Amino acid sequence: MSKKRAFITGIAGQDGSYLAEHLLALGYEVHGTVRRNSTPEHQVSRIDYLEDRINTYYADLTDSQSISRLVRDIKPDEFYNIAGQSHVRISFDIPDYTLQVNAQGALNMLEIIRAVSPTTRYYQASSSEMFGNFKDPDGMQRESTAMHPVSPYGCSKLYAYHATRTYRKSYGLFTANGILFNHESPRRASNFVTGKIVKAAVEISLGMRSSLALGNLESFRDWGHSRDYVKAMHKILQMPEPLDLVIATGKTRSVRDFCEVAFSALGLDYVQYVTQDEKFMRPQELDYLCGDSSLARKTLDWEPETSFEKLVEEMISHWQIVLTS
Ligand code: NAP
Ligand code: GDD
Repeated sequence: MSKKRAFITGIAGQDGSYLAEHLLALGYEVHGTVRRNSTPEHQVSRIDYLEDRINTYYADLTDSQSISRLVRDIKPDEFYNIAGQSHVRISFDIPDYTLQVNAQGALNMLEIIRAVSPTTRYYQASSSEMFGNFKDPDGMQRESTAMHPVSPYGCSKLYAYHATRTYRKSYGLFTANGILFNHESPRRASNFVTGKIVKAAVEISLGMRSSLALGNLESFRDWGHSRDYVKAMHKILQMPEPLDLVIATGKTRSVRDFCEVAFSALGLDYVQYVTQDEKFMRPQELDYLCGDSSLARKTLDWEPETSFEKLVEEMISHWQIVLTS
């Protein structure tokens, strides 16, 4: 039997790299897009160990033709649209670009599927940032919770979420949203709060720096592991019918809690090192996320496998190796 073919936009990103690894382990033929970068090593640093086993192509979500050609030739069974301008605070600096990539870009991908390969199953990387400051009376967000985003990033993702539903209902395509809550890993870029805290804590423990400036310490996030969440992405595309599902751990912690756990794992008291700087505050903050993924757990037979403590431990080990080699 021929191998199933998967196409991943943003294959060199945090999730793209774990998803490629997971799909290869399941026996898929894996194709994916990377962006041109003036330092080519940056482009593939998360996937260079997979180089011989995956097929990569230069493309961009804002350049429809670049991806249309590939889809026409490859005819993937599954298309994972996980490329994106993924940084919420930076979306306030580059709102127009964020919209072009995350909203118009997703529409471009859906149009390609409709026109060129309508039997391909389509996954859209939707986000808990779409909820904004809404939660249900029990303090959780789920598929039915109102969505009122508070950032250009959240607005762009909400557009893509609705476009994905619209294409499903209008054209009968298999298009599904994974509404993923924050997920991290050793491959998380160090300008997201978890990567930033862990990298700095390790540097402090090695005597390489003496403080860490952060923004809001009081916001709460539901943090899981990217390696676990990409398994849910794949399961979402195996369902008999397309459905939009929340993927989360159901446990929430503040940025302050994260500092406490990461610094104390290194024998340090974060209070002595962490300062606050206006520069890292957002024009509007999303205060609290805690996801109810019970529908996904039941429908997909999925659940997160990595504990919060193990996630932090893995991130610390990664930075210890990088910073001492
Ligand atoms: P990431 O590490 O920032 O990866 C995003 C990837 O998209 C990168 O490879 C990036 O390329 C690529 N990309 C950016 N703009 C592009 C464009 N115009 N055309 C083609 N590729 C482009 O993000 P992630 O954490 O893996 O997240 C994956 C997706 O899930 C994103 O869409 C994100 O918004 C969404 N999401 C993430 C989370 C989370 O907590 N991680 C939660 C919910 C949803 P470069 O490497 O060249 O920049
Ligand atoms: N990045 C960053 N840098 N965040 C900080 C800092 C800082 O110095 N100090 C405090 N924070 C706070 C932010 O204000 C936010 O409340 C929280 O830490 C998490 O910020 P990020 O790690 O940047 O993630 P995010 O929650 O804004 O967005 C991530 O999760 C979304 C899902 O809810 C990203 O992965 C998005 O792509 C994803 O959709």
